[in-house]
Amino acid sequence: MLPEIDRILIDRERISQRVHEMGEQLAKDLSEAVRTDGHDPLAHPDRVVMVPILTGAMVFAADLIRAMPMKLSLRLVTVSSYPGQSTESKGAAMRSALPADLADRHVVLIDDILDTGSTLKLVSDLVAEQSPASIRCCVLLDKPDRRQHDIRCDYNGFSIPDEFVVGYGLDYDGFYRNLPDIVALRPDAFRAG
Ligand code: XMP
Repeated sequence: MLPEIDRILIDRERISQRVHEMGEQLAKDLSEAVRTDGHDPLAHPDRVVMVPILTGAMVFAADLIRAMPMKLSLRLVTVSSYPGQSTESKGAAMRSALPADLADRHVVLIDDILDTGSTLKLVSDLVAEQSPASIRCCVLLDKPDRRQHDIRCDYNGFSIPDEFVVGYGLDYDGFYRNLPDIVALRPDAFRAG
């Protein structure tokens, strides 16, 4: 274990089990939505679009979509809110163009963590302008005590207390995304910023 890790909050086995449950639930709900539209969910290729919000959702999304036995496509967006050595949100900002082909599709926004809600509010408001068939939000972690925006989160892996966490895609200053567990860092791992 890296010396700057204080403790493991959620280990890899719990993450894996929960991500599989979420993938199965999403596939069930989306297949039902596609069937309700009058299409075959196993055959129709362009009804469901998964939109991971990079960079943090990269690892979660990679596991989640492989737990979804159905036809879907991927579009990536990049948003930043915790630049550099920061553990306080500086407000969400788009760092890439939003895909322009979401009209009439079932869109699932995937993020690593729902904190103040500014990231998901920003992206879901922009997606809504394209008139998709539906918008769902799916996050691995939720910090409910930190919410500042009214966001409906349809799929939430774990609710956690207000503590800065890293691992499984989440970073501090660009590091620790590769850790397989969700962990808390020792206080001396953080630099001023
Ligand atoms: P908002 O406030 O927009 O935050 O809901 C969502 C984004 O903020 C980042 N974030 C964190 N990143 N450890 C991290 O590594 C954390 O504890 C944490 N809390 C929020 C994250 O990028 C997320 O997409």
